[in-house]
Amino acid sequence: MNSEQIRETYLSFFERHEHLREPSASLIPAPNDTSTLLTVAGMQPFQPYFRGEETPPRSRLCSCQRCFRTPDIEEVGNTARHLTNFEMLGNFSFGDYFKEEAIAWAWELSREGFGFDPERIWITVFEGDDELGLGPDEEAIEIWRGLGVPAERIIGLPRKENFWQAGNSGPCGPCSELYIDRGPDWGPDTDRPGDDSDRFLEYWNLVFTAYELGTDGSLTDLPAKNIDTGLGLERMAVIQQGVESVFDTDLLRPLVDLATELSGRNYGADDHAATRAMRIIADHTRGAVQLLGDGVVPSNERRGYVLRRIMRRAIHQGRVLGLEPPYLGRFAERAIEMLAGFNPVVAAERETVLRWIGIEEESFGRTLDRGSQMLERLIAEAKDSETSWIDAEAAFELHDTYGFPYDLTRELLAEEGLSVDDAGFEELMDQQRERARSGAGGEAEGDHERVLEFVGSTPETRFVGYEDLRSGTSVGRPGFIGAP
Ligand code: SER
Repeated sequence: MNSEQIRETYLSFFERHEHLREPSASLIPAPNDTSTLLTVAGMQPFQPYFRGEETPPRSRLCSCQRCFRTPDIEEVGNTARHLTNFEMLGNFSFGDYFKEEAIAWAWELSREGFGFDPERIWITVFEGDDELGLGPDEEAIEIWRGLGVPAERIIGLPRKENFWQAGNSGPCGPCSELYIDRGPDWGPDTDRPGDDSDRFLEYWNLVFTAYELGTDGSLTDLPAKNIDTGLGLERMAVIQQGVESVFDTDLLRPLVDLATELSGRNYGADDHAATRAMRIIADHTRGAVQLLGDGVVPSNERRGYVLRRIMRRAIHQGRVLGLEPPYLGRFAERAIEMLAGFNPVVAAERETVLRWIGIEEESFGRTLDRGSQMLERLIAEAKDSETSWIDAEAAFELHDTYGFPYDLTRELLAEEGLSVDDAGFEELMDQQRERARSGAGGEAEGDHERVLEFVGSTPETRFVGYEDLRSGTSVGRPGFIGAP
């Protein structure tokens, strides 16, 4: 199955079970959702429905949501499965069906839609947690047993694995996950789902969303019992396409192929640096294009920084491959072509996306070339003097004078077995912030909250400056922003 067939198999199955198919929401969460910087799961746009604050268009929805998770940025490229951005297929119930149907449908679709041998499907369930005051999920175990899953293929796992929450607060609940056993080529028979093993690949998470987690860690009942499930499209593509890694699926492989074509280097185990570089470029270009399509622009904070960081990492990896700059635009064009059918926003914003990519590559390219020379000198000096440390002052100078990002400095040093004094660097950054503050006469307090409040209280704004030089409009709330 190609990825389009996987999406269609999933969404049409749930449409047959009376779910309404919703389009993917933006990667930028709604203005009043401060739980995460970027949309991390299919359920996130539906949080007001789970809380009973808004009425969904139907009590059963399904979607394929584009998602972005930041914690793994540095893992991308090192493994066969880490990605920053991915698509999550999901079915949702708002006070309608609960565990019985959610489990039975996941079982049916896994076998009949995706063709899995039931003997190779393993299940995990929540084993309970004292702090949350919840016992083991006996109800889910009973339902799985009733469908014929033998007890030895149902594994209890702790809160860390089998209790789902988006960020630190919000709608949440115990979950039950489906894993596929990829067989003895991927690990010994003693491996189990939940182990750090490649043998068992988790592909679907069923969350029984019955609680609201407060910022103080307390659990309260939501107005109704709900269902939130998430099936990772890239993971299912790995299984369906019988390939080793997410980078070999039709969702990413064309970007890897472009990297091999442009660099003449081999993708595969024998050229580790090139393989890693190609994977990073593939994931990060795809992510950057979608973030830009959704209106994120590169900057030095919050989402803009996430975007800038992945663009810069991709640009740097192009240098590792020895590509002739500029090249990021070539990858972005291919990513846009690949995504256009699923993400029409990216296609509509093509020119804007490519313009930002070009600007960042040009400015960062210069920084990279100057900073890399200094970094190489520092590495050589450290090796000469047989130390494993780089002074915080040197890293700070790279950042402050050359604009060379600190996280990249750290990563590149780590590749050479060197480290830098984080605490010392932070101290220098604090001193610099202090200098900037006293120079600027103090930072306005609560700016971010005021912007959010403003955005939440005005109708959607459309930027028309690329098509027109003049346009009639009205001001949302005059004087609200910038009030002393
Ligand atoms: N919210 C759950 C997850 O992201 C299921 O959709 O895994």
